[in-house]
Amino acid sequence: MELQGKRIVLGVTGGIAAYKAAELLRLLAKQGAEVQVAMTEGATHFVTPTTFQALSGKPVFTDQWDARMPNAMAHIDLSRQADLILVAPASADFLARTVHGLADDLLATMVLARDCPLLVAPAMNRQMWENPATQRNVAQLRADGIGILGPASGEQACGEVGAGRMLEPEEILEEVIAFFTPKLLASKRVLITAGPTFEAIDPVRGITNLSSGRMGYALARAARQAGAAVTLVSGPVGFAAPQGVDRIDVRSALEMHAAVMARASLSDIFIGVAAVADYRVANAAGHKLKKDMGGIPPIELVENPDILAEVAALPGGPFCVGFAAESRNLEEYAQAKRRKKNIPLIAGNLIQDGFGGDDNRLVLFDDKGTHPLTPAPKSELARQLIEHIADLTGTD
Ligand code: PMT
Repeated sequence: MELQGKRIVLGVTGGIAAYKAAELLRLLAKQGAEVQVAMTEGATHFVTPTTFQALSGKPVFTDQWDARMPNAMAHIDLSRQADLILVAPASADFLARTVHGLADDLLATMVLARDCPLLVAPAMNRQMWENPATQRNVAQLRADGIGILGPASGEQACGEVGAGRMLEPEEILEEVIAFFTPKLLASKRVLITAGPTFEAIDPVRGITNLSSGRMGYALARAARQAGAAVTLVSGPVGFAAPQGVDRIDVRSALEMHAAVMARASLSDIFIGVAAVADYRVANAAGHKLKKDMGGIPPIELVENPDILAEVAALPGGPFCVGFAAESRNLEEYAQAKRRKKNIPLIAGNLIQDGFGGDDNRLVLFDDKGTHPLTPAPKSELARQLIEHIADLTGTD
């Protein structure tokens, strides 16, 4: 649970996207956050407070003069208890009122009286978003240190198409988790490889392996949440890129090699998580091989470039982290790979633990020794590995 113990005030303002705030509340609560909802009067025209009360298990506040607050100071009490105020959806009117410090309803008064950070997820018609008044307001909110999440572009409830849609609840959740993550890799550029490679035998067949990409994608997400600019060079896998990560799709080891070498010198940290094929097919057929071609077709293999070793050999290159998946003798083989590729840190895992699933068991090997991590979901191990890298690179 990535938001365990965090206290969040979820402000909901009047707009059709208010119905998505119910799903957002559910996602925040699922990650362990304690959520208190405050609605504007406008929001109650779209969704009733009862919906949010049922999902949060707490009374919902809409009125500054709510008699349930014994001291009649709901705006102070509710904002003082929060680690974050998140307003989603945030209407054009709410943004304008916040810019001017108005305190004409409970939510606006809480925002003005807060001593915690404020994130807002704007949602409005595209013309309202593009209006110079709204753009001025957004610039002022940014200057005041308020985080602006989105908006997204696309089809709007009114039927028009353009910028102004609220980010999806899952995307807002990712931003909230990133907000609470210590920025151990702030302003670092991190390059990561993930997934398998596919070495063609003919146009429809090839040599590949069982890497799902989960470990590499988890690291890309954790690095981005830690404040890095992340580029993910990905072999063929079935996931969307983590939010805010620049993904480059490749298929073969040669394509992965080219994509990495074009960016390695511009990176501060390189993490090779991909299960790169050691060999490719030298005599790959341009047309589909036919069974009746006379005998079993010979497959000639030729060695692929070692991407990690080449990046590690770059003069002034990035801090390099390798992975080693072994079926036995983990320490001996992982350490041998670390020495051979001349890299400061390697993460070892057994193939039965590492390939495929959501969990893993990692042992880190570096100049200081051996660091076994407790078996955990790949997302958690990724967070710990990023902490270890920040520690070794002196960036925390
Ligand atoms: O994708 P998942 O299902 O989540 O599984 C994750 C994983 C098991 C694939 C991952 O945790 C892992 O261990 N990746 C490395 C797999 C491996 O054993 O690689 P290797 O021993 O072939 O290579 C060692 C290191 O050199 C790796 O960092 C690899 O990316 C890199 N390498 C290898 C060969 C090559 N030609 N170029 C490389 O860069």
